[in-house]
Amino acid sequence: MKKINLGTTALLFEDINQLSDVDKNLMKFAVKATKDAYAPYSKFSVGAALLMEDDTIITGNNQENAAYPSGMCAERVAIWKASSSFPNKKVKKIAIAAISSNKKLDRPVGPCGACRQTLFEYEVKQGKDVEVIFMGEFGNVIKTNSIASLLPFSFDNTYL
Ligand code: THU
Repeated sequence: MKKINLGTTALLFEDINQLSDVDKNLMKFAVKATKDAYAPYSKFSVGAALLMEDDTIITGNNQENAAYPSGMCAERVAIWKASSSFPNKKVKKIAIAAISSNKKLDRPVGPCGACRQTLFEYEVKQGKDVEVIFMGEFGNVIKTNSIASLLPFSFDNTYL
């Protein structure tokens, strides 16, 4: 038996203003996208913004449903919007922001497990890492250089 180091590293920024201009701009799109979330049940609005290889930006937000499991997260709305409209365009980065009317989100809100898995599929498909930048309403921002780094022991099509 030996211990394996999963070795994920991330960058922690004190706030959005410490990000590069490109990342800050992308995060602003994610924050703006929270405003159009349809989240009447959780009151938890998430926005996601994808920076595409041609520097266009595609956004998404969470869409809830009275039949709760029929709703969808912001990240998957955004990546499926991108992949369905531009199947051959690569994604460079994704920024994620969240705001809740129940509590002040003063720490970074990472993508849920299902979104990590979904995003990972497209990272593998395009053969190029996707940077992930996420925050809450304010405060610290986390940045990683790939989806894979958020998903140790990930499952992909090589097992099929
Ligand atoms: N949500 C997202 O949009 N992204 C995540 O990664 C986590 C959760 C949404 C789903 C639901 O509408 C609300 O946040 C509360 O879970």
